[in-house]
Amino acid sequence: MTNKAFEDKYSDYLAEFISYAKSVFQNVTTDSRLAEAMKYSFFAGGKRIRPVLMLAFNEVLSGKIENIMPFAFALECIHTYSLIHDDLPALDNDLLRRGKPSCHAAFGEATAILAGDALLNFAFEHTLKSVKDERQIKALSYLAECSGYSGMLGGQMEDIENEKSKGLKADYTDGDKETLLNSIYEKKTGKFLTAPFKIAAIISDDSKIELAEKIGSLFGRAFQYADDLKDIYLTPEQTGKSAGKDEAEGKLTSVAVYGADKVKRLVSEYENQIENLLKSLDNSEFLRVLTKSVLK
Ligand code: IPE
Ligand code: IPE
Ligand code: MG
Ligand code: MG
Ligand code: MG
Repeated sequence: MTNKAFEDKYSDYLAEFISYAKSVFQNVTTDSRLAEAMKYSFFAGGKRIRPVLMLAFNEVLSGKIENIMPFAFALECIHTYSLIHDDLPALDNDLLRRGKPSCHAAFGEATAILAGDALLNFAFEHTLKSVKDERQIKALSYLAECSGYSGMLGGQMEDIENEKSKGLKADYTDGDKETLLNSIYEKKTGKFLTAPFKIAAIISDDSKIELAEKIGSLFGRAFQYADDLKDIYLTPEQTGKSAGKDEAEGKLTSVAVYGADKVKRLVSEYENQIENLLKSLDNSEFLRVLTKSVLK
């Protein structure tokens, strides 16, 4: 697949997704500050990697796009809410997100808290409207689980609890740190990157659920490792968020546990493993190129 063919396909998925999201948000009243803040963060930009992965994996499984789009939309709403809350002063205290002032910097803390909550509810309000069958109920229940105490929120809690400044025990061995790191990453990032694969499998081909889980789990870990590398190597202009924050806040990151060189090696190992798993599926070339490009 040429670069151009890859970029065109990514743009097509993106355009379909944004057009769907705009049509859904059209019914959300614009005269409220809450709705304004929800839309501000949702449409601020972002790679939309989770929806694109879901649409692309669904296509590999020969699923229909209209069956998956409500879930792609819901996941991006919940992801956006997680970013709004992640940036709050009580969590990572970040003023820049998706290249713009973060939600609380633009609207104030109270509105940002409520806009995050509202996006979480909106995800389920929207998806529940189109639920028709058992598969969709299963996918929704899985999405709720990914977002909750045993998923993203549980991971965020552990992330905060284990900042050096707060609770990371000085006598932790390297092995303890590694176990903890992987537990945090599996929940805070891994669940929302497993979800695109697993939800597509639940909806379109449940014989592929196990494979979807394997790919998603590797993808999630590699994605957060790559994000940790970007935090040290890239500029705010390149990432749309502040740089060098993890070390400044004493975060337990992959870079803190392994050192940047080993993290780079691990990312490329995971990338190869994902590529091999994807190769077992027909028409997975776009996803293979996407994996390389996202983890670069
Ligand atoms: C940021 O996710 C949070 C992490 C899991 C590292 P993305 O890197 O997907 O952020 P956007 O959606 O492109 O802004
Ligand atoms: C956040 O991880 C993952 C979420 C659940 C939002 P990070 O705190 O590393 O994400 P960034 O770097 O702020 O995007
Ligand atoms: Mg964080
Ligand atoms: Mg953060
Ligand atoms: Mg980060």
